[in-house]
Amino acid sequence: MATRTPIVGGNWKMHLDRAGARDLLRELRGQLDGLAGVEVVIFPPAAWLGDAADALEGSTLRVGAQNAYWLPHGAYTGEVGAAMLVGTADYVLVGHSERRHVFGESDEDTARKLDAVLGLALQPILAVGEQQEEREGGRTAEVLRRQLDAAFADIDRLPEGFTIAYEPVWAIGTGLTATPEIAQATVAEIRRMVADRFGAASAEACRIQYGGSVNAGNVADLASQPDIDGALVGGASLDAEAFATICRAVAAAAE
Ligand code: 13P
Repeated sequence: MATRTPIVGGNWKMHLDRAGARDLLRELRGQLDGLAGVEVVIFPPAAWLGDAADALEGSTLRVGAQNAYWLPHGAYTGEVGAAMLVGTADYVLVGHSERRHVFGESDEDTARKLDAVLGLALQPILAVGEQQEEREGGRTAEVLRRQLDAAFADIDRLPEGFTIAYEPVWAIGTGLTATPEIAQATVAEIRRMVADRFGAASAEACRIQYGGSVNAGNVADLASQPDIDGALVGGASLDAEAFATICRAVAAAAE
């Protein structure tokens, strides 16, 4: 599997109070600090980002924000500007399906966020994925291409280590994990789309995670697929044991 370092994200979504977040951060550091062969990024709710940065400082675990607004400051009540995250977060999730489908963010909003994050000392993870009726209607490739084209509209060169998360919407929080075959085929297709736009070398270097009902039991089969470079984990990332097992399985699959 080339030289791509796989990446596992733990997306806590809107879960855990402050004490629970601090406990989980401590447990995760204890279990995962120093784990070789995989990059581990924790995405707590925005309210606990500072706690996460403090709790994980000096460890190999990275901190990610689940969302950010593209403008640096201004009269935007309730928003957190991407620029405000510099120094606290390392990564920012852009275009998660819940942002797109629950909060109505458009492809253009996603592109603005991606551009803002890329202009700062932050690494984006660009999430894409089709809905159930789009897959059933044979429109998966069309939807993914539209999402990627829109997100990359202003980008000429893919930065090193760029990460895409393929998260089929029908697999998120449903227990309906994509089979390793479907996940591999779709991720390979995304890689071809990246190659069409940025060239073969950029596509080969681009990391593409799978997300959607990943757990300690199914991760090894997914992570052993040649094009899948790790996982973006929701529910199972709230359990230190399960998440640590997932991270270790991804590291082992890449050996
Ligand atoms: P689940 O692992 O809970 O399906 O969530 C996936 C996800 O949306 C991660 O960003």
